Amino acid sequence: MTAETAKLTLHTNEVVELPVYKPTLGQDVLDIRHLGKQGAFTYDPGFVSTAACESKITFIDGGKGILLYRGYPIEQLAEKSSFEEVAYLLLNGELPDKDEYQAFVSKLNNHTMVHQQLMTFFNGFRRDAHPMAIMIGVVGALSAFYHDSLDIDDPDHREISATRLISKVPTIAAMCYRYSQGHPFVYPQNDMSLAENFLNMMYSMPSEESRPDPVLVKAMDRIFILHADHEQNASTSTVRLAGSSGANPFACIAAGIACLWGPAHGGANEAALNMLREIGDVKNIPEYIARAKDKDDPFRLMGFGHRVYKNFDPRAKVMRESAHEVLDLLGKHDDPIFKVALELEKIALEDPYFIEKKLYPNVDFYSGVILDAIGIPTNMFTVIFALARTVGWVAQWSEMIAEPSRRIGRPRQLYTGSAQRDYVDFDDR
Ligand code: SDX
Repeated sequence: MTAETAKLTLHTNEVVELPVYKPTLGQDVLDIRHLGKQGAFTYDPGFVSTAACESKITFIDGGKGILLYRGYPIEQLAEKSSFEEVAYLLLNGELPDKDEYQAFVSKLNNHTMVHQQLMTFFNGFRRDAHPMAIMIGVVGALSAFYHDSLDIDDPDHREISATRLISKVPTIAAMCYRYSQGHPFVYPQNDMSLAENFLNMMYSMPSEESRPDPVLVKAMDRIFILHADHEQNASTSTVRLAGSSGANPFACIAAGIACLWGPAHGGANEAALNMLREIGDVKNIPEYIARAKDKDDPFRLMGFGHRVYKNFDPRAKVMRESAHEVLDLLGKHDDPIFKVALELEKIALEDPYFIEKKLYPNVDFYSGVILDAIGIPTNMFTVIFALARTVGWVAQWSEMIAEPSRRIGRPRQLYTGSAQRDYVDFDDR
């Protein structure tokens, strides 16, 4: 990082010099680390203008709708790469050569199974438990099985934990669905990709030979690629903050899953599809647009808006194209949900409220349409988001842990509570 200097004149008229760091891409940043000692904290609820870390993994240009994984545009990766290759890229910083790719895929394949005892964890859940609740519990419990590799300062332990998480989360995700259906768990197959394995573990039946439709496998692989990482979003920041205390990677990823579940974040894909179903017909769209604009109505158009993108989310564009392909190939191009989605997007993008607030469809708007067409139950949508984002969470966690200047994250506050006062006995209150 190259440093210039910014001058800040405090309310006390003291002038403070702040180093300015120039990024490869994006905004300059002011280093305020020592400002606290000079008499003032910065105040930024929701971290709208705060860079919490330095990273080399993912870059987003919200104004231009650009998303780069290690410098490669998401559109190119979605078209030409695979989830496994993107995982290698995010973890290692470069695209693999053929030998590196084969070795990486083979390593992942040899860690897709879970300990047999982990299967008994599911019996403690109700069959109708939300699968995200199961994911939080079971993924966190992985740390109870790998006492041999929890030293986060050991690069080999970090690598094997990363491999186990990336390989086992798809298996656990599929197990959540099978458990809810009362179907037997299906073991992963080493001759399948993570996307093919996931669909096979979700839907194959021991009573007959079958293999997932290659078209659906490609659509699922693309959905995994599009969701793999996204800079310092809420769940990734959760993983980094949990990791900064030295917590083990399985616990950190479980924390990320918990955060992702929220409807303002990864839970939006489930909420967006439920909203499209509730709208039901194109003629009802104006009523919902009006509700979204009504300050007294908490309703928001799920799948619209983004903290960073003030232009189209590039993932939404790829997802929309993929939805057209999948629905056409499945003979569902007249899918009423997709029709409502296309018309809602069109109307919303012409509405002054959405134009002024720069509210565009985000990654969650179309993903639900595709997953619904594939036959994935709505409550599994965020599970699939978590499955894919595990790669980004692990890459970001590894980057943070390897940072020599790593410190525990500990924000300060603007305290507006009571000044110091003495205890009052009951009889005197
Ligand atoms: C993801 O950060 C990431 O990178 C996340 C993610 C990733 O890959 O990790 O991209 C994944 O989480 C995508 C976002 C999914 N969430 C939704 O689709 C839920 C609906 N969207 C919103 O709740 C909202 O847009 C957020 C949470 C996404 C962004 O919230 P911000 O940045 O805090 O913006 P805001 O809530 O302050 O909204 C700004 C204005 C407000 O109006 P004013 O107070 O200025 O009058 O826009 C309005 C909001 O009321 N607004 C919406 C709206 N989103 C924002 N109005 C109607 N419908 C919406 N969807």
